[in-house]
Amino acid sequence: MKAKRNWMALLAGLTMIGVWPSAALAQGVAVSPVAPRRELVESVVREAYDRFRSDTGGKNADYIPYLAQVDSKLFGVAVVSTDNHVFTLGDINYSFSIQSISKVFTLALAMEGLGPDNVFQRIGSEPTGRAFNSVVAVVDMPTHTANPLVNAGAIATTSLISGKNEKEKWNKILDFYGRVAGEKLALIEEVYRSEAATNAGNKALAMLLAKYERIYADPFESVDIYTRQCSVGVNAIQLARMGATMANNGVNPATGEQVIKREDIPYILASMTMAGLYDSSGYWAWHVGLPAKSGVGGGIVAVAPGKGAIAVFAPRLDEAGNSVKAQKVIEYVARKLNYNLYSPSSVGLK
Ligand code: DON
Repeated sequence: MKAKRNWMALLAGLTMIGVWPSAALAQGVAVSPVAPRRELVESVVREAYDRFRSDTGGKNADYIPYLAQVDSKLFGVAVVSTDNHVFTLGDINYSFSIQSISKVFTLALAMEGLGPDNVFQRIGSEPTGRAFNSVVAVVDMPTHTANPLVNAGAIATTSLISGKNEKEKWNKILDFYGRVAGEKLALIEEVYRSEAATNAGNKALAMLLAKYERIYADPFESVDIYTRQCSVGVNAIQLARMGATMANNGVNPATGEQVIKREDIPYILASMTMAGLYDSSGYWAWHVGLPAKSGVGGGIVAVAPGKGAIAVFAPRLDEAGNSVKAQKVIEYVARKLNYNLYSPSSVGLK
């Protein structure tokens, strides 16, 4: 920890006096070619925040009644680097429901228990090209489950979590999310009640999966646990830290705990690339080039492997169910910082 802090201080100092990493290397100081430059990250994120703060595009999700009531002007941005630098702007203490972003972490937990090959066989990783809650996709896709990040595949992934009863499975999931976030997380009861009262569609998906033998526990129990996991509250900092844990090979940068197996990280990031923004994932890969995950609560987290993560919360969504403002901020920041993974310059090549 101490060494890391010293290293960052050194890097910050070098940046201020205009000495580049190559000069530092010549003096025998090990500086990662992909290390985030704190001042640059902060100024670009601030620029993005100011540029998009008055954007009013999109509208709150309303198929879950609670979400329609959330103040649509809320706007928070948090960046957490792999060496645990935190930078925040706006409404960063507001606890919003994690919604579909939870799917990423239940996937990680399922792989922890069963291994990635087993999870891949039972769920798959193909994008659907359809809405996140599509019934047609379940019928059409050869795997039926499609991938762990659409509702059907996510409910099936939740059904893979072991435990002697529903309570034990749910506690295991909640505890795991807390370790990824670096602090205990809690259910937002009102969101859970609102969603549980209106989730006939997810129950239908689960029963359809049962017909194809692609759900691995009681379908309604699985939907209930899934609904709870979607109702977990996070603020932008906690969400950014969850992303930074993935950027940091599964080690939480704040607690130092290896929470997610390092060998599972590439599978998780690959799934996020294929389906993290549902039927906008192709747009996202083309324009941004970072694995990310959205939720209808208004959050999006994007992961820059080795560097860190950015989480943005803004409730207004586009047609695909992705926060409009969050997409704009992340796209701007990723472009300005050359973070697109498919760009050779993202790994320091000129
Ligand atoms: O099951 C649902 O419909 C919600 N709990 C989650 C959907 C979601 O977040 C889709 N995201 N963009």
